[in-house]
Amino acid sequence: MAGVSESSRGGFSNKIGFVLAAAGSAVGLGNIWKFPFEVADGGGGAFVAMYLAFCFLLCFPVMMAEIAIGRKTNKNAVGAFESNGHKNWSAVGKMGVLSGALILSFYNVVAGWAFGFALEMIAGNFAIGSNFGQFISDWHINLAFSSVFMFLTIYIVMKGVSGGIEKASKILMPSLLFLILALMGYALTQDGAMEGVAFYLVPDFSEITFDVAFSAMGQAFFSLSLGMGALITYGSYVGKKDNIAHSTAMILLTDVGIAFIAGLMMFAFIYSQGLQGTSGGAGLIFTVLPSAFESLGPVLGRVIGAAFFILLSFAALTSTVSLLEVPVAYVVDEHEVRRSRAVWIVGGLIFLLGIPSMLGNGTVDFFNNFITYSSGKTVNFMTFIENLASDTFLPLGGFFIALYTAWVWRGDNFKKELEQGNPGFGDTILGKYSIFALKFLVPIILGAITMVTISDKFL
Ligand code: PHE
Repeated sequence: MAGVSESSRGGFSNKIGFVLAAAGSAVGLGNIWKFPFEVADGGGGAFVAMYLAFCFLLCFPVMMAEIAIGRKTNKNAVGAFESNGHKNWSAVGKMGVLSGALILSFYNVVAGWAFGFALEMIAGNFAIGSNFGQFISDWHINLAFSSVFMFLTIYIVMKGVSGGIEKASKILMPSLLFLILALMGYALTQDGAMEGVAFYLVPDFSEITFDVAFSAMGQAFFSLSLGMGALITYGSYVGKKDNIAHSTAMILLTDVGIAFIAGLMMFAFIYSQGLQGTSGGAGLIFTVLPSAFESLGPVLGRVIGAAFFILLSFAALTSTVSLLEVPVAYVVDEHEVRRSRAVWIVGGLIFLLGIPSMLGNGTVDFFNNFITYSSGKTVNFMTFIENLASDTFLPLGGFFIALYTAWVWRGDNFKKELEQGNPGFGDTILGKYSIFALKFLVPIILGAITMVTISDKFL
């Protein structure tokens, strides 16, 4: 990487730095908190099968496209489209900036719960699982923990993209993986666990509806941090000699792998505790896991429980950092605001935007029952924002990024960009498939599912 603008924007020291940061963005609450309850609501194995298909068949090429656009233009999510000479397309980047802000506003609240649960586990308060409803309806708790979390996020983003967090994640991410693997092993030995595994792995295809496909698609994009330009922004810090296809594969496999084993662990615990069929919703991991930790005994349970929620909070932090980075990079690059100032203003505004999400979990009725969809389902403010930003805007962003890459920037230019650092890739099966998918598969499938569900849900 060369040039003044790059050095002043910061950069990743090497390829592993980028893969770590991007995997850090991808792995977070999406894998461990959101994935299991989406699977439970989506009917089990059929949801998992669809989720995996979306990740590998559609998200893989979209992820390469985002990273390639970022590296080619060396810009943020909005500027990337503009500097390539396509001003109108920067609307896609602007939608991404908005999605990032909306997602961070509620993500930060949930991250606050994870942080709070770490303290509860240290205190040995395993009963907190059954008092989860009370815990989240207390606005003092929400306000306290989420402001700590936002403060940490702001502080890290202010210091630039590389640095301490990258180093810490080299130790903490593998620790999280190891802990979930160990918990999964333990969960699988419990009575009744195998029924949970069957629910999780054996697809019942009669469960597949447009609504379930829509959630599986949203989950794939959310979990991979895709469709809002986070990876355009991160890609802008990637070196020209890096192999984009290879990095993409590593990020995708890490993210999907962690979600998959977290799901196995959760369904083994849910069924062995006899909790099947309860739609835990956003409370699923918080209600199920404390009693699972308790079953490890008073001392080990506290240690493991605290370690789990601390590592989960760390994983959330590497994601909130990337969520804040998107709007901040936009404001810094396009509106020439000093980085340190932009971070505080943007972070502060997003924090305020999160307040209705904090209040909609039992505190203020208006936000508790915020909107009724045309299906008759009433949801709270947080779920509404989640449906809007992560389930709708992200796949819509992916749809436009695919169209843009394949038809506007054009397949051959995209191919050239991928081949820097990976000569001949465009002629491999994967290379050819990716261009084909961006041209036809992604726009058709994402477009169809999004249109049908938007009209069902919101119209
Ligand atoms: N992928 C993150 C997670 O699974 C959330 C996220 C979405 C981060 C979009 C950045 C952009 O927790």
